[in-house]
Parts: sequence; structure tokens; C-alpha cells
Amino acid sequence: MASIKDVAAEAGVSVATVSRVLNDHPSVSADARTRVLAAVEALGYRPNAVARSLRTDQTRTLGLVISDVLNPYFTHLARSVEEEARALGYSVIIGNADERPDLQDHHVRTLLDRRIDGLLVSPTDGGSPLMLDAARSGTPMVFVDRWIAGVDVPVVRSDGRTAVHDLVAHLHGLGHRRLAIIAGPAATTTGRERVEAFRQALAAYGLPLPDSHIGQGDFQAESGRRAMERFLDLAEPPEAVFAADNLMALGALDAVRVRGLRVPDDIALAAFDDIPWFVHTDPPITAIAQPTGELGRAAVRALVDRIEGRPPESVTLPARLVARRSCGEPASAEPRALRKPPVLQEATASTEPSPATNRSQS
Ligand code: HPA
Repeated sequence: MASIKDVAAEAGVSVATVSRVLNDHPSVSADARTRVLAAVEALGYRPNAVARSLRTDQTRTLGLVISDVLNPYFTHLARSVEEEARALGYSVIIGNADERPDLQDHHVRTLLDRRIDGLLVSPTDGGSPLMLDAARSGTPMVFVDRWIAGVDVPVVRSDGRTAVHDLVAHLHGLGHRRLAIIAGPAATTTGRERVEAFRQALAAYGLPLPDSHIGQGDFQAESGRRAMERFLDLAEPPEAVFAADNLMALGALDAVRVRGLRVPDDIALAAFDDIPWFVHTDPPITAIAQPTGELGRAAVRALVDRIEGRPPESVTLPARLVARRSCGEPASAEPRALRKPPVLQEATASTEPSPATNRSQS
């Protein structure tokens, strides 16, 4: 492999001149620049990124620790993170925590050891001392989708609360009154937020949410299947079930089919997170769609702002309901304009502070 000395010899200039050309330094003659670039091309020279990072104390690398790479939502998120990072001149190393706090810590430690310039995290739980220390000691960090309350780290996420209210309005409008939820883990902000929002929205309609109508899931398909089986075993099963992520919705759909029942004729089903194959399931599934690509891009921009010394901003983007056929919508149903009951305007109580829209958290 050619070295910088080989390039200098080929171009007939000093090593310092080659270095200036490669770093776009202005004080190089046009002739020297042309000869150096020709030598780089002829020898197939690749600058040594490790040597450069030692000089500049930057690796132009971001770490992304996501909770479950097999969940299509996070796969999509990772893709948009990588795209935006590349556009801004950064590479991304991805760590998959598989919803395990120990694996999350392993990835955070490994990425910090590799001197990444900044870290994007979708936390699996409330945060280990390692991650909290990293945030407090000034490692540039941004939370994406999920967050940890009480840490001064910007959060980029969507407004799940409003979207869940919209979904309940939709189900109510279709005549469903006995509603149930398959919730995500209480250790995650998204798990807690979706069940709280669901409970509040039901209360706004004067509808109960008995414990028997809360299935505890773990954001995996199998837990969705088990929760739906329990709902179907009730003497009076719910009329509509909201699965708090796409994988649990698929498990729940399967459980209904295995019993020889039909969605939505026997029980309605809706999901948080829209994924491409919800159009192809039978029936197509009504879902809350997040602007996942934009979330990933906004998270990278916030992190790069932080790395490059600009004030980073927390961002909350709207999510929207996509009405299809799994809740008993009429055949011609297009995504419907949604009416909210007046009490929802005041229903803002939350057990944890949500990050403000377009503002840094303090
Ligand atoms: N878990 C699972 N699916 C999701 C999440 C989450 O936290 N957020 C958006 N989709």
C-alpha cells in the first residue's frame, strides 16, 4: 500500500506539501496540487484515518446504539442515520442492544474506547451509570426515539401521545367501546408513554381501562401473540386492541388467525409504527406512522451541531394515523380527519417531563 512518502516522491514535492494538498490548505501552488493529486490517483494512495485522527483528535465517526436492530422501525432509523451522517462527512458504527441493558453498556463502552466523536442512543432502559456518566462528562450525545428523563441530553422523537389520542378517537368513531392495549416495557419511555396516552384518551371518552385489558409485552412478536391470546380468553374480550409496536401487532394478528377468528370482524387491531408490509397483511393494518427517516436525520444533525460547537436542539415531530381496514373501517375509507373530544385539549398530565419541541432540554 502506497505511503505519503511514495506520493511525495512520485509528485516531486515534500511530504508537507502532500499533506497540505490533502487537507485543502490554501498555500499550495496549482502546479504542486495537480502533481500531488495525479500521484495520489496513480498510486491509489488512501490517507491513514487513524494517523489523521491522532493529529486532529477527531475520528469523524458517530456511534449509534439502538435497542433492537431486527425491529423494522429501528432498521429504518439506522438507515437514515447512516445516510445523513455520510452526507455530513461522518461514518457510523452501530451497536444493537437487543433490549439488553448489559449489551447496551458493552456497546457504549466499546464506542467510547474507539473515540467516536458523538453518540446517538435509543436507550433500552433508564440508563446505566456508564451512560449517565458519559452524558454528564460532556461526551456529545443525543437520544433518539426513547430518552432518559433528568439528563441534559437533547431528544429527537415523535409526538406519540397525540397520535395515540388520534387513534382512540378513530376507534371510538368506529363504535368500539371495549378497548385494550398490548403495552411495551415499562422500563422504556416509549413503553410508558403509549400506555399512559391510551389510558388518558380512554378517560376522555369516559371509557375504562381495566387491568385485564392491559397486556404486558416486550416489543417482540411473541409477547403480542400471548397478550392477544389472553384477551381472547376473557369472558368478554375487547372489541379493539392497540399494539404498542409493529412486531407485537404481527404476533397479535397471528393469534387471532390461529383461533380461526378474523380481524376486524371478531376483533379490531391497530399498531404503533407503520411498516411497509402492513399494506399487504390481510386486512391491511391501521397504524400510527412516525416520520422515521426524518427522525434519524434530525438526530444526526443535532449530534453534529453538538460536536461542532453549535447549540443542539431537541426536536419533536408529529406522528400521524394511517387508517386502513383492520379496525372495521368502511371499504372506501381514506385516512380520516379526526375529531377530538374537548377534554383532550386539557389532557396534558404526564408522569415525566416531555422534551419541548424545537428547544434544547435544560
Ligand atoms: N420500541 C419498539 N418499537 C418502536 C419504538 C420502541 O421504543 N419506538 C418506535 N417504535
